[in-house]
Amino acid sequence: MDGQAPHTNTRFTLNGTPVETTPFAGERLSETLRERLGSRDVKIGCNAGDCGACTVLIDGQTACACLVPVQQIEGKSVDTLAGLVKNDPQAVALKEQFQDHGAAQCGICTPGMMVSAVALLRETPSPSEDEVKDALGGVLCRCTGYRKIIDAIMDVPSHLVETGGAGAAIRRLDGVDKVTGAERFGDDVAPAGTLEIRVIRSPYPHAGFVFGDLDGWLAKSEGMQAYLTADDIPGENVFGVIPPFADQPAFAETTARFRGEAVAAVIGTPEAIRAFDVAQFPITWSELPCVEDVTKARQNGAPQLHPGRAHNVMCGGFVKTGDAQAALARADVSVAGHFNSGFVEHAYIEPEAGYAEVVNGRVEVHTCTQAPVMDREALEILLGMDASQIRIVPTGVGGGFGAKLDISLQPYLALGALKTGRPVRLTYTRTESMQSTTKRHPSDIHLEIGATADGRLSGFHFEGAFNTGAYASWGPTVANRVPVHASGPYNIRDYTADAKGIHTHCPPSGAFRGFGVPQSAIAQEVLFDALAEKLEMDPLEFRILNALEDGVPTVCGQVFDQGVGAKACLEALRPAWAAQCAQAEAFNATAKAGLRRGVGVAAGWYGCGNTSLPNPSTIKSGVTALGQVVLHQGAMDIGQGANTVIAQIFATALGISATELQLISADTDVTPDAGKTSASRQTFVSGNAARLSGEALRRDILRHVNASDASVLRFENGAAILSDKGQTHHIDLGALPPNSEGYVFTACETYDPPTVPLDENGQGTPYAQFGYAAQLAVVEVDMALGTTKPIKFVAAHDVGHAINPMLVEGQVQGGIAQGLGMALMEEYLPGRTENLHDYLIPTIGDIPPIETLIIEVPDGHGPYGAKGLGEHVLIPTAPALLNAIKQATGVRMTSVPVTPSKLREAIKGQTDE
Ligand code: FES
Ligand code: FES
Repeated sequence: MDGQAPHTNTRFTLNGTPVETTPFAGERLSETLRERLGSRDVKIGCNAGDCGACTVLIDGQTACACLVPVQQIEGKSVDTLAGLVKNDPQAVALKEQFQDHGAAQCGICTPGMMVSAVALLRETPSPSEDEVKDALGGVLCRCTGYRKIIDAIMDVPSHLVETGGAGAAIRRLDGVDKVTGAERFGDDVAPAGTLEIRVIRSPYPHAGFVFGDLDGWLAKSEGMQAYLTADDIPGENVFGVIPPFADQPAFAETTARFRGEAVAAVIGTPEAIRAFDVAQFPITWSELPCVEDVTKARQNGAPQLHPGRAHNVMCGGFVKTGDAQAALARADVSVAGHFNSGFVEHAYIEPEAGYAEVVNGRVEVHTCTQAPVMDREALEILLGMDASQIRIVPTGVGGGFGAKLDISLQPYLALGALKTGRPVRLTYTRTESMQSTTKRHPSDIHLEIGATADGRLSGFHFEGAFNTGAYASWGPTVANRVPVHASGPYNIRDYTADAKGIHTHCPPSGAFRGFGVPQSAIAQEVLFDALAEKLEMDPLEFRILNALEDGVPTVCGQVFDQGVGAKACLEALRPAWAAQCAQAEAFNATAKAGLRRGVGVAAGWYGCGNTSLPNPSTIKSGVTALGQVVLHQGAMDIGQGANTVIAQIFATALGISATELQLISADTDVTPDAGKTSASRQTFVSGNAARLSGEALRRDILRHVNASDASVLRFENGAAILSDKGQTHHIDLGALPPNSEGYVFTACETYDPPTVPLDENGQGTPYAQFGYAAQLAVVEVDMALGTTKPIKFVAAHDVGHAINPMLVEGQVQGGIAQGLGMALMEEYLPGRTENLHDYLIPTIGDIPPIETLIIEVPDGHGPYGAKGLGEHVLIPTAPALLNAIKQATGVRMTSVPVTPSKLREAIKGQTDE
């Protein structure tokens, strides 16, 4: 809470009830509501008025609670989502509409969205799309792409069904808490007054440091309980998601390698932490030379970040088939380009947050995470403790997109609880989150592609350098994955692709939706348009001609007998392509001077799961003596819908409806390891484990009464009832002996995708399945200003089998919004764009209509044919936009983001030529 001196009492009405508090001078309303009055349905994403997550109504008007000093609301009336959904008819209806449309994914933005929508609907009961966009323009969502939020508020008809298994567009099973504000995220679980932690970070990209008299500082710091440095780490001071590359300390020991790296932490009462002045902390810094650019980092004499990684090359990946150079030499046409992209920030609305305590000698960490078991494994090493002594209890996750796969604050929470013996909490500030957590890898790519006169690809040579920052994180995965995917989903016989991860004194680059593939797809898909142009072929038909098919080897020599949906996605775009190109042409013929429209197309593919490595998932299920079916579902739902989709698959295998299940979500004490939520693996891998678990449970139940496979199963009044070819079997569940967990039937099954390691030329079976996509983008460019306005997207995605079509659409729309951001506006600059004011992500006003075409080409390994989807959704978006900009302006952009100033310069350069 801001300030120190208690102020006079403040009285106001909260959700219809009079309240009285004694805030500090200048205390923010958001903090009063959350910490004094328990209204944790009011969310904090930035504390600076940039995200709108904290939106409440003050005397009926929307306001960001983080910007309002609580003393200013004396005598006023404050409404939050939790109160509105109880008392306000508009909110009660909206609660249903949001669920019917899947308008809440992770749910962290939902209170701000719904409160803003209530204010709108009171004034305008049937708003237009523009009115919705105006009213919600100040609330950011990073998951949904906003379209389903607009649909929910406008109450357009949804295609929802009430119940069902695989294939049914049912509501999210975990949706109610998201639309009532009851969902508990990382900052919502600690009791008020818990000791707090503040991390001390390097102000320099590269610096040595020494501590002064820490004990003396502690002794004179009122309310401070302890400090933490590397000396407090009982185990090894190192972590990393890929063990052979683990290189990151929880606290730097003598040298910080990036701006924002943690060197120490202090623990104190909330008041002491607020009064803490980092300038008084006894530490002396010595700034050192740094290198932040991959080209300079590889030069002789550049500062070296890690021993044994000469020229700062962390590692590389390589794929070769045929003879690319010979094919390029004999090609009738060829094109080449140099492409680059910058850091992209995940910008989830929930900053990292959590709470830890010691319970019966075990440390329990409650935090937002994509990978609870990996978190525990990292803490085992850092704490020098056995896994049995550590429990990870994930909270709701307010967006992840890859960055919450790595640990961030988990060590500080665990160390703080162990050192003080008291519960501790920590929530990163927005700037701290952006400075210290992983980013999308900046890329520097050289690519040459050839084709024969009849339009067949002939030779593909790719070289990419990826800025992996100060530590490895998921850099090795990016380096390995990119060469496998850089071809795109096309038939290329002569191919080389080489990718390297290069260390710099920048924040670590890690996992971000696509693991490097969105960057390589920009180069490949933009040059495909250049090739089509040289060949005077239609860009879509050129892609269809070269698309991968069943029975045709990938660049890794992998051959799929079924499930290759690349051509189906591209062919699905034909009608929209023809119509949109014609419309753009007509527009350009009549539009006022200075506005030009263009249409672009691009495709993408993505291998689901780890690259040539085991990545098993285990799912447990049981039936209680009362007939309740329980699913222990440890796959983290970070908004994408794993809780619902995996339950739908399990329910289909068991033979009941998903809405009949009781879900037990991830907790390392009670759910088996379903692996991490990454690489689009949960629907495929955990889905298969859920299918196996459902099938095994069903088999056991059927076997109990020798019922046939055709039996129809239901649970009623403590009995399992099987209708079997006119015969009915009753199993009195209460008469069966329960196991230690109370289950009378139980099953626990594991699935691990079949893959084969890649050889030295990258040949093998890296993934058991790929998903495919093709997208079309229409843009309008202001030729004088250089601004690009997306007008429409049509997205065809092959998901094998849509387990929940509503959630598929939500993923596609959210991915396109992120791809749009990467293409047109997002650029993380260390030290410069470290907040949501300077770092721009798409708002509701930036996202045009998105038409989703669900393509179902069943996969041989997927549960009921299903394929993963999460990463695929943004891979074609940026290149489709760049190709549309080219069609509109004649300028082929090779660097993202295509900001107005860059495009304006390029257009001007073209005009000047
Ligand atoms: S938390 Fe208030 S606007 Fe972001
Ligand atoms: S649902 Fe909007 S930020 Fe996640």
